[in-house]
Amino acid sequence: MIKTAYYQDLTKMNTFGMKVKARCFMEYDSVADLVDIEFEELARPVLHIGGGSNLLFTDDFKGTVLHSKIDFIEMLDQEDCHSDRAERVEKSQETVLVSVGSGVIFDDFCDWAAKEGLWGVENLSYIPGEVGASAVQNIGAYGVEVKDVIRKVYCYDTVEEEFVNFDVEDCEYGYRDSVFKDPEIKGRYIVTHVVFALSRTPQPKLEYGNLKTVLEGLPEGSLTPVQIRKAIIKIRKEKLPEPSVMGSAGSFFKNPVISVEHFERIVAAAKAEYCQDYKVPHYIVECHGVTETMIKVPAAWMIEQCGWKGKRSGGAAVWEKQPLVIVNYTGEAYPEEIIGLEKRIIASVKTKFDVELHPEVEHI
Ligand code: EPU
Repeated sequence: MIKTAYYQDLTKMNTFGMKVKARCFMEYDSVADLVDIEFEELARPVLHIGGGSNLLFTDDFKGTVLHSKIDFIEMLDQEDCHSDRAERVEKSQETVLVSVGSGVIFDDFCDWAAKEGLWGVENLSYIPGEVGASAVQNIGAYGVEVKDVIRKVYCYDTVEEEFVNFDVEDCEYGYRDSVFKDPEIKGRYIVTHVVFALSRTPQPKLEYGNLKTVLEGLPEGSLTPVQIRKAIIKIRKEKLPEPSVMGSAGSFFKNPVISVEHFERIVAAAKAEYCQDYKVPHYIVECHGVTETMIKVPAAWMIEQCGWKGKRSGGAAVWEKQPLVIVNYTGEAYPEEIIGLEKRIIASVKTKFDVELHPEVEHI
């Protein structure tokens, strides 16, 4: 069924809580509904949203907002899916393929998987948003990106008006990036459902940050996905604003990747400012298509060094426990206040570190 509304209030459909309206809003709850939508006729521009957790509406939306309520979680018949040898080997390692509708809340899927004893998405627990958007954005946390468990992404092609599917290799996944974000095809494919490859074989990923410490006392050999999920939720709740209480879009900026030489300059300046033992947080990264070693420096650290942690500006503020997050502090913030803060943060990081921060949040 397709539900259509005009001048729809979007305040509850974007986690930042921007008080904006959409000229036309359409919500559908089955894959087949997409065939009935006359895409050529829709008021333009057309924007498909998920949980609205990675968007900053800068004004009322003049076109059509689409939203999926396709809501199923289904274990696939394993015999049907393992056609070649590699896949049969995988089957013996107890891979379980699960098909999930694009409108399912991603954390509901994580909860379901953990309770089924399936491994793969426990580290992605409590990330706001829906399954369709997760496959577009390649969400990630605590050492796991959703691409690591995606097998296939099923879509409706609004140009050719047909259903298509993408193997994970064809999705061109990168850090918070995919082929679906390519400006040339953005908006063309609507994700209907995603097939994930989860595992019955325990495969805890505990290397990131303080995850091991939080799990301390629990024997690593007998951990369950439910226990890891619980620990991840605890860490996220301690650091990130509770979405139901304080509006935000999670990390506002991407973590920048810089050259070794640039990083060394930053290290030298930090040592001069603090002490010779000062350690600048960083991760070495392999960049697709680049042979040179690159360094990822947490934007949170840079923003904190520029003195922004906990700073307020009108209705907007930099979250005091994780400065990568900009919050709608009063619940009444105007988009201009968020953008003003964003610009000032970018400018000060540029001045202090000569690093250009880029928003992770999409401005609409
Ligand atoms: N840091 C500070 N000051 C702070 C907080 C952090 O200096 O107040 C430094 C610390 O050195 C810390 C480092 O930043 O070790 C990294 O912090 P954190 O582990 O919180 O991760 P992040 O890089 O800031 C990324 C994701 C988050 C995800 C976490 C955990 C991006 C843009 N963000 O943040 O994703 O939850 O890792 O994996 O990559 C999101 O995308 O909305 C999101 C919350």
